[in-house]
Amino acid sequence: MKKIAFFDSKLYDKIWFDTINNKYNYDIHYFENKLNSETAILARGFDAVIGFVNDEINKETIDELYKNNIRILAMRSAGYNNVDLKAALNKIHVVRVPWYSPYSIAEHAMALLLCLNRKIHRAYSRTRDRNFSLNGLTGFDLHGKTVGVIGTGKIGKVFIDICRGFGVNILAYDPYPDTNSNINYVSLEELFKMSDIISLHCPLTKYTHHIINKDSLSKMKDGVYIINTSRGALIESEDLVDALKTGKVGAAGLDVYEEESDFFFEDCSELIIKDDVLTVLSSMPNVLITSHQAFLTNEALENIARTTLKNLHQFFNNELLENEVIYKIKD
Ligand code: NAI
Repeated sequence: MKKIAFFDSKLYDKIWFDTINNKYNYDIHYFENKLNSETAILARGFDAVIGFVNDEINKETIDELYKNNIRILAMRSAGYNNVDLKAALNKIHVVRVPWYSPYSIAEHAMALLLCLNRKIHRAYSRTRDRNFSLNGLTGFDLHGKTVGVIGTGKIGKVFIDICRGFGVNILAYDPYPDTNSNINYVSLEELFKMSDIISLHCPLTKYTHHIINKDSLSKMKDGVYIINTSRGALIESEDLVDALKTGKVGAAGLDVYEEESDFFFEDCSELIIKDDVLTVLSSMPNVLITSHQAFLTNEALENIARTTLKNLHQFFNNELLENEVIYKIKD
């Protein structure tokens, strides 16, 4: 029976992986530890490793896994920016889950936008305290506004479809536009200039790192809403705080945060958070933070478990790895 080391496990992962594993009967050991250079040794004696978005899978981690005879790393995520693919080349195969539910993430992006605009988070607290005042809760009609979508892959496209139901104008930027679609592509500059709302749906690469920064923010409309369900480091967080303070940014919905790995997915309610930027952001009434939960639907979790275990099955049976991530020099 193949032994699988599952890192950074949570109860909701276990429920779905155990269910799908009935088909494969792997011996899955669920570690709560995140995978990094220090914890990689836990994989000794296992046949495969399952990792996640906040694991630190750098060269040291890869080397330690390799030393312990691990030849397959199955990421249970779409993004793999935390994996040093160059270090893994010719040592460890890296597979991922390219598709599990673009709906889960796109719907969450819209949920953040609607909640922020119509101040639902504030109304919820008020009415529970029997404060039925409406002062300060004014939003705006989405109808007729311009939404800029950066990245029109699987999630970006679903988000665009959802937006269309609200009667908004859509502008999009993607270096690889879908020429068969009816999406209105513009330059990044124009998107920044014209959008009332900007939603990020591109991967984190060296080209998109801090794509939202002081310079790009200065090109945007006053009061622009920014929604990020992609990766935290797309936004230079301190620049965002400054722009929120001046009102340049009207509101921010963040499912991801640059330094999230120390906090997200964990209960830190008893701790003093030493990250001042996160503390400031979470104190602002026009900032809504969710802790990387956009993927968290039953459908997505089931598909993640199904594809991850299928990826491992293909490896163990010397089949073509349909979801392998290959290192490309240009990345
Ligand atoms: P995808 O690969 O289908 O689409 C990404 C799109 O971004 C592609 O069309 C690509 O051409 C475009 N792109 C690449 N470089 C770009 C650039 N410099 N500027 C603008 N666009 C660029 O990926 P998918 O499935 O739509 O996911 C998008 C991102 O969402 C993932 O990379 C991941 O970081 C994030 N994600 C977040 C989750 C969450 O729970 N918050 C869960 C799943 C994904």
